[in-house]
Amino acid sequence: MWVIQSNYSDPLFYVSLEKELLSLIDGEKNLIANLANTAAWLYHSIPDLNWAGFYLWVDEDQELVLGPFQGMPACLRIKPGRGVCGSALEKQRTIRVDDVHTFPGHIACDSASRSELVIPLRKNGNVLGVLDLDSPLVGRFSLRDEIELTRILDVLTQKIF
Ligand code: SME
Repeated sequence: MWVIQSNYSDPLFYVSLEKELLSLIDGEKNLIANLANTAAWLYHSIPDLNWAGFYLWVDEDQELVLGPFQGMPACLRIKPGRGVCGSALEKQRTIRVDDVHTFPGHIACDSASRSELVIPLRKNGNVLGVLDLDSPLVGRFSLRDEIELTRILDVLTQKIF
């Protein structure tokens, strides 16, 4: 049984979260299993999320396809440059959106989503997909969330893929 020890209000939250996520995937090499548990852990340890999950790049289709997630069913496919996810993929950088209503081309999968953080999964110069976090609160994600989660996802991506 897994118990989430990290507490978001703790200044060391992201240090604990990184350790927990590394321990969660330790010893398992299956991609889907590791992404599924990572999405579940993020969803339950970061407060005020309504969606947390992955879109994976499918080379033969030249688009992102829905991967493991927690939350309401979501759009299946996203083309490069489309929405927040496709933009993060194309620009190969994290995109933090305080109010999705002001983001041109935002793809509304869940009408509850008001702010969003999308982090590319980068390995060996390629982007293999994105992590998408959605919140029902405007301005939910801070610069600290962006920096720390980008750093942790860079570490995890090297191990998971
Ligand atoms: N809002 C995203 C689409 C994915 S869902 O939010 C889960 C976007 O604009 O790319």
